[in-house]
Amino acid sequence: MHLCRSCSETLTPIINFGTMPIANYFREHSDPPPATFEMQALVCLGCSLFQLGDQPLPEDMFNGYYPFYTGLSKHMRQHFSSAFESILELNQDKDKDIFIVEIGCNDGTFLENALKNGVRHLGVDPSSNVVEKCQSKGVNAVKGFFGKEMAEKIIQNHGQANYVFAANVICHIPNVNEIFINIGKLLEHDGVFVFEEPYLFSMLELVSFDQLYDEHVFMFSATSVKNIAKLNNLELFDVEKQQTHGGSMRYFVGKIGQHQISRRLEECLNYEDESGVLNLDIYKKFAENCNKKKTELNNLLDSLKNAGKKVAGYAATSKSTTILNFCEIDSNLISFISDSTPDKIGKITPGSGIPIITHEEMIIRKPDYLVLFAWNHQREILSKEDRLVNLGISWIVFVPEVKILD
Ligand code: TMP
Repeated sequence: MHLCRSCSETLTPIINFGTMPIANYFREHSDPPPATFEMQALVCLGCSLFQLGDQPLPEDMFNGYYPFYTGLSKHMRQHFSSAFESILELNQDKDKDIFIVEIGCNDGTFLENALKNGVRHLGVDPSSNVVEKCQSKGVNAVKGFFGKEMAEKIIQNHGQANYVFAANVICHIPNVNEIFINIGKLLEHDGVFVFEEPYLFSMLELVSFDQLYDEHVFMFSATSVKNIAKLNNLELFDVEKQQTHGGSMRYFVGKIGQHQISRRLEECLNYEDESGVLNLDIYKKFAENCNKKKTELNNLLDSLKNAGKKVAGYAATSKSTTILNFCEIDSNLISFISDSTPDKIGKITPGSGIPIITHEEMIIRKPDYLVLFAWNHQREILSKEDRLVNLGISWIVFVPEVKILD
């Protein structure tokens, strides 16, 4: 039996994806195999928080090295520049000396905007490679996990924060109440915690279950964030839908009574309520859809293999670990996956053992089909890689549905 990580109610099981390896454990053939865990998704029908049951040990997941740099994506650079602008818009007093803290700052793509605008800032990240990247750009960053000690140290050295920002980070942190409590301490009385995460209803609609992997322990909705905030003496006062990561939500949280509750939030909460966020039916349907997608993808790959076609993959994403392992796809069905991250080249994918090569080598090896694992960057990738279609390579997508693109 699992209990909700926020409100402690008993969780209701939705789907078991089976044994999963650590999603980001891209390894050499000779390295030891990845740690595994049973990946079961459950929902709390008390507060609506959708979550994984078990997780691997933190030391198996985070080894101080994070293989992805946000700034590699032009689209994400633009996204974070506009996220920074919208945070500045929250500030009414333009002469105020504001201080922004980013939790999980990665390579400083968001905070570079603070640097350019002369805004006091500090990034926090547990991985030394990304913190070094920040520092090389002049972005202030410290290595470490964000918790009570870090919050106190920041207050001592820099004072309280006007804004705390986090993108695709809070869903990684299992002790969500503690995070909210410590952010509450770090924030000024009228400060705002702005964070964005893949949105539960986007995952349900798109059947994008690959959003779930060892690190992504939560899939938030406005309803669940409202409940978590309330439990920890904070208040959700606004939300804003985002296109990133196949449908995300940006949440605005402040101290109770400090900010007007937006109409947008009320509409979003009504939508979630009417859609049945606290009703088991939508989750049962999701589980059915996940199994259906597995069958469809396997059928397509099998038929292409039987027809003698060479199928490869594009982008060895963390998400691909879930789809490959749940659908039991290995190098018999997908010969290799190409990727732009130098550290992944020459390695194999976790569990499924598919070799990773550069995009340049992929073109030389010229597959007939490429499965797009970075489907959340579909528009950017399809436009920058239009040469592939001219080479006779066709794209296979599986979000929202399994199909070969025209
Ligand atoms: P992630 O989804 O786990 O962050 O991983 C994204 C991976 O996708 C990363 O290894 C780089 C790769 N990638 C490409 O190869 N080409 C691209 O255009 C993009 C956006 C990502």
